[in-house]
Amino acid sequence: MIVLIGGEKGGTGKTTLATNLAAKRVLAGRDVLLIDTDAQGSANDWAQSREESDAKPARVACIQKFGKGLQAEAQDLAKRYDDIIIDAGGRDSVELRAALVVSDKAYIPIQPSQFDIWTLDRMDELVGSAQGFNPDLRAWVVISRVSTNPSVHESQEAREILADFSRLELSAVVVRDRIAYRKAARGGLCVDELKPKDPKASEEVGLLYEEIFGG
Ligand SMILES: Nc1ncnc2c1ncn2[C@@H]1O[C@H](COP(=O)(O)OP(=O)(O)OP(=O)(O)O)[C@@H](O)[C@H]1O
Ligand SMILES: [Mg+2]
Repeated sequence: MIVLIGGEKGGTGKTTLATNLAAKRVLAGRDVLLIDTDAQGSANDWAQSREESDAKPARVACIQKFGKGLQAEAQDLAKRYDDIIIDAGGRDSVELRAALVVSDKAYIPIQPSQFDIWTLDRMDELVGSAQGFNPDLRAWVVISRVSTNPSVHESQEAREILADFSRLELSAVVVRDRIAYRKAARGGLCVDELKPKDPKASEEVGLLYEEIFGG
């Protein structure tokens, strides 16, 4: 399966989710490739620090790929790997568009503070044009980096706003702002590998993982 974690907004947790999902998928015994399409290279840095980690975690293969060639390359690589997870940077880019055309599923993390109609409108449009080439593409918005002191309104509001968009679905999972995500990222780990573990972070990632790869 090819899964894109992407979107036009910066800092929404795309790399955090892409790296956690990739590591978790590797731990489940799958042959996984993480493709970093962002010139910042944070997913690639994460994979690198993972290789250097004293904890000796299982390797997550990662390559960087920029430009239009991503489309053909990802299609070709999909024959060699069980799963491909693409981390696409926080802006409307050639890579984001190419990734939408090759992906089975797209997850778009959005912070509640950035949950505006304009962003969703643009993403809905991008998904729509990608579906012209890739009719089976499905796209979910996942509300990310939500305060751990939540008002229930945040997801409710999101649900109501999303009802107006034909192509975007709302993930059942809400990812909260937790130190564990930052700690894991620094060490090249996923939240499941932290010691001590933050069970709530692990649960969230587990639910997202199930939603994407389960059944
Ligand atoms: N759920 C979370 N809880 C706590 N910190 C988080 C969470 N998600 C992301 N962060 C932190 O926020 C920062 C931005 O996250 P991340 O790099 O994953 O976002 P991004 O969407 O990939 O950003 P960019 O658009 O720059 O690629 C990082 O320092 C990361 O550790
Ligand atoms: Mg990123």
